[in-house]
Amino acid sequence: MNNFENYLNHIFDYLPQGKTVEAMYYSLLNPGKRVRSQLFFQLLKDLEMNDNYYEIGAAIEMIHTYSLIHDDLPAMDNATMRRNLPCSHIQFNEAIAILAGDGLLTESFYQLTKSNIEATKKISIIQEFVNASGCNGMIYGQELDIINENNIISQEELQKIHYNKTGAMIVLPIKIALILADKIEHINQFSKAMQLYGLSFQVKDDLLDQEDKNLIGKDSSDKDLNKSTYLKILGYENSLKLYYELIDECFKIINEIGEFPNLINYMQSLIERNK
Ligand code: IPE
Ligand code: IPE
Ligand code: MG
Ligand code: MG
Ligand code: MG
Repeated sequence: MNNFENYLNHIFDYLPQGKTVEAMYYSLLNPGKRVRSQLFFQLLKDLEMNDNYYEIGAAIEMIHTYSLIHDDLPAMDNATMRRNLPCSHIQFNEAIAILAGDGLLTESFYQLTKSNIEATKKISIIQEFVNASGCNGMIYGQELDIINENNIISQEELQKIHYNKTGAMIVLPIKIALILADKIEHINQFSKAMQLYGLSFQVKDDLLDQEDKNLIGKDSSDKDLNKSTYLKILGYENSLKLYYELIDECFKIINEIGEFPNLINYMQSLIERNK
């Protein structure tokens, strides 16, 4: 187990142990790909930052995990399986799953406050977290996703859903690494690149949804829920084409900013992902 995973394994030991904390550990420690924290750690490496900033990586994964627990609830996507295991509300119950999501979200801010960062920078970082995960980002995107079930929408509207529900949380780790390294002059360009990457990530997720659920480790439900997805709007071939175009455009922008070999290698390693 690597050091970051080891950190996560004990992250709630300071809390009174009960069902909610058990459910928080259950979902956080299930083997997700850790994409968002890895983007953060790989860029930190390229920026030659020494501190490991595990609290920040953990906060990113905690918010992501909370979003998945709530996304799976009967009132949302009504899923049964996540990361090859029963969803939180199946393994525990709905009330505990809701509380586990709430707990992960709330305690993520405790992680941020205890990170070793100078105060003004810490405040900017907390604002970035709120912006990406809140009602100007992921929560807004999830609302649009839900209200557009059964609707016929344009590609532009679909892009807006995907930018918000998925893109914002993929731009976040990159922004934070740049703030920590005092490279804010790169934030605009890098954000543009990562928005494209975030969009590509959700296009791929939409394509994977039609695969066997035992292979992707979660319910394949977009069709049943009549979700607005790229597959539905563009069809398979055009979605796949768009997927590679988005990634190319993203790498072009990053290469214009500078050399980030660890980040690029990691991002490339995800292109042909099958879950
Ligand atoms: C799934 O995210 C939800 C989306 C925003 C597409 P991931 O594909 O990163 O899920 P895990 O963390 O690896 O389970
Ligand atoms: C969810 O998108 C995005 C989140 C913010 C959690 P999906 O509903 O497509 O994610 P999966 O397919 O259930 O992982
Ligand atoms: Mg969903
Ligand atoms: Mg879902
Ligand atoms: Mg999906």
